[in-house]
Amino acid sequence: MRDGRGASGDTGAGRAIGASVGTPVSRRVALVTGSGRGIGLAIAETLCREGLPVMLVDADRERLQSAVKSLRDDGHESAGVVGDVTRPRDVDRMLARTTATLGPVEVLVNNVGVFIPEPNRAEDVDLASWRRIIDVNLNGTFLMSQRVARSMIERGSGGAIVNIASIYGMRAMDWRLYGTGRRPQRYDDASYAVSKAAVIQLTRSLSVSWAGFGIRVNSVSPGPIETESGRAGLSPASFRKIVSRVPMGRWGQPMEIAQAVAFLVSDQAGYITGANLVVDGGWVCW
Ligand SMILES: NC(=O)c1ccc[n+]([C@@H]2O[C@H](COP(=O)([O-])OP(=O)(O)OC[C@H]3O[C@@H](n4cnc5c(N)ncnc54)[C@H](O)[C@@H]3O)[C@@H](O)[C@H]2O)c1
Repeated sequence: MRDGRGASGDTGAGRAIGASVGTPVSRRVALVTGSGRGIGLAIAETLCREGLPVMLVDADRERLQSAVKSLRDDGHESAGVVGDVTRPRDVDRMLARTTATLGPVEVLVNNVGVFIPEPNRAEDVDLASWRRIIDVNLNGTFLMSQRVARSMIERGSGGAIVNIASIYGMRAMDWRLYGTGRRPQRYDDASYAVSKAAVIQLTRSLSVSWAGFGIRVNSVSPGPIETESGRAGLSPASFRKIVSRVPMGRWGQPMEIAQAVAFLVSDQAGYITGANLVVDGGWVCW
């Protein structure tokens, strides 16, 4: 089976009713990319609790299967489909599967994001790695948005899109914080920072393009968030340095990003489009 729904079938046991962040919304179908783990999974869980049926998308089948299982075990209406957001055929197939399984997408969260996990000096980085980061973080976000918005426009449904950017879309990477041992390693992940800056600007551009169709497009820029990949390769010293770099003195939790996304897709954010909501414990203020 190509999708990640496992043996449990196409539809869930029913919608859970949870604490509501925004005005209750009608049954709007959400799709969250990169939701096999981390921030994406927290977003999927939160939207499920808000009563939205959620399609989870991830390139990693095992992660996806276990994420969908955990949501369905909690009684949430959700399903999963494996695919790569950079491949147009995958994107079309994933959207067709979503329509057939849950209904057409009215809430899209572009959460997929990758970085080069080792010290990566700008003068040394190879072009293939550079291109892959831009392709996944920027082009994948655009491709998903374009295909989903096209369908929203055809159906006249309107909708909401949220792109997950980063504080590193607004600041250069602070390489003094990273590295193992005592010596900081220069970590110029310019590809990541550039791709996330472009996601913030893509958000503004698309918000203007599609405002007349009732499609709101916003971004959320997380600071350091405790996920597997957020902590990947960090020494205990780096972890502590990052804590001291945050005015609030702690890492953020995936749920804290998910709550911001839930607000932006809710009717309470009905006049908000083109915004970049920074959720960083104050990082960019220092
Ligand atoms: N964790 C942090 O500290 C932090 C900080 C700022 C921004 N962000 C951003 O938040 C988002 C989520 O971060 P995370 O830490 O949860 O990441 P993660 O690596 O834990 O999860 C990302 C998921 O995306 C999937 N994925 C990767 N490439 C894909 C592709 N081409 N197509 C489909 N799926 C793909 C992966 O399999 C993975 O399950 C990313 O955009 C990241 O850049 C994270």
